[in-house]
Amino acid sequence: MAAAWTPESWRSKPIVQVPTYPDQAKLAEVEQTLAKFPPLVFAGEARRLKASLADVAEGKAFLLQGGDCAESFFEFSANNIRDTFRVLLQMAVVLTYGAAMPVVKVGRMAGQFAKPRSADTEVIDGVELPSYRGDIINGSEFTPEARIPAPERMLSAYNQSAATLNLLRAFAQGGYADLHKVHQWTLGCVTGSLQGKLYEDLCNRLSETLAFMEACGLTSETTPQIRETDFFTSHEALLLPYEQALTRVDSTTGDWYDCSAHFLWIGERTRQLDAGHVEFLRGVKNPIGFKAGPGMTGDELLGLLDALNPENEPGRITIITRMGAEKIEEKLPNLIRIIEREGRKVVWSCDPMHANTVKAGNYKTREFDRILAEVRAFFAVHKAEGTHAGGVHFEMTGQDVTECVGGTRAVTEARLGDRYHTHCDPRLNANQALELAFLIADALKGERAQARAKAKASAR
Ligand code: PEP
Ligand code: CO
Repeated sequence: MAAAWTPESWRSKPIVQVPTYPDQAKLAEVEQTLAKFPPLVFAGEARRLKASLADVAEGKAFLLQGGDCAESFFEFSANNIRDTFRVLLQMAVVLTYGAAMPVVKVGRMAGQFAKPRSADTEVIDGVELPSYRGDIINGSEFTPEARIPAPERMLSAYNQSAATLNLLRAFAQGGYADLHKVHQWTLGCVTGSLQGKLYEDLCNRLSETLAFMEACGLTSETTPQIRETDFFTSHEALLLPYEQALTRVDSTTGDWYDCSAHFLWIGERTRQLDAGHVEFLRGVKNPIGFKAGPGMTGDELLGLLDALNPENEPGRITIITRMGAEKIEEKLPNLIRIIEREGRKVVWSCDPMHANTVKAGNYKTREFDRILAEVRAFFAVHKAEGTHAGGVHFEMTGQDVTECVGGTRAVTEARLGDRYHTHCDPRLNANQALELAFLIADALKGERAQARAKAKASAR
């Protein structure tokens, strides 16, 4: 690991989950084209996110990271982007106002295209074809042509990411995210539900607070924090030819940054210590994360931290646990104790989606109750260990889909087919996402009450 790092040193390492492009000349041409395109994000923004994540690591803020499992070329539209952004804003307001904790908002958006797969091929009615690996690599249609990895798809993904990011920046800074608009973020599909009512209540209280602040001279005009918000982008750094092409030297510090997104993570299937993905991410200065499934050992955990964050910089590493509702209580405490014993600075985030996927007939689904159970257990374990449950990482959409079963407006197994639109994993719909936010707000309030009681006791 101590060998010199370059943006292409990953190429001499073993690697899994990357496609073999039949047209290598085309691949090289696309990589050269991408390398000349402007960066999508700036190093200074990535540093700002890292500083915010350092606050999370210290227990002073909460990380909300969510969005699509896989963005798709087909579902690309302003309405989709706006609605996902709206739900994230609503969740953030529930957490900020409900739990009085600053929320760091990161979308799985504007670049979340490449997917790791558990099998290299897919069989339907006796026909076997290469698996779909995300729109940046091949097509989801079940035909031999669509499944061939096509390098030009990287250019479409870049363009879609740039347009998405442009809109997100406009929403975040151009007035849409002004706290006076909380009422307007409510999506039609949420109105009338229990969560819709709870949200309405919260908005009314928030409006009263804003009126009071206005009387004190704090308005949207005088206070940018009311008018605009920070919103960051993230995706799994899986397709390394694409990531390398967007990796640039920051002129102010001389450091390398992967400018395809503010935050990148390594998936559960690609976190082998001596392999390409870890090699690539160790050299870029962005804040990064890695997934930790139930099989993660203490040695693997420390090995990853030594490789990816040798200086133990706070905010650099987010550990995204995805243990499954049954296993989290058994597996998580040990990892937390190792981190505490070694004095490592990390953000702990809970992905309650990826280890709770089940098959229901022809559909891949997730039971909303299992998702909530994993989040509850995540908070309970951290409370017992005296550490900060730092954030959540989940797959959702602003659309009224029927992909995960359950919730107060129950999606039943029989209704999964009604609006099952995902190109990959089942996502929470707007109402389920809001329900999750209220649960987290309560858990955070509990954590804060415990911290206050502790501080009081030690002051005595
Ligand atoms: C994902 O986040 O979409 C994903 C594939 O997760 P994991 O690597 O945890 O399976
Ligand atoms: Co997924």
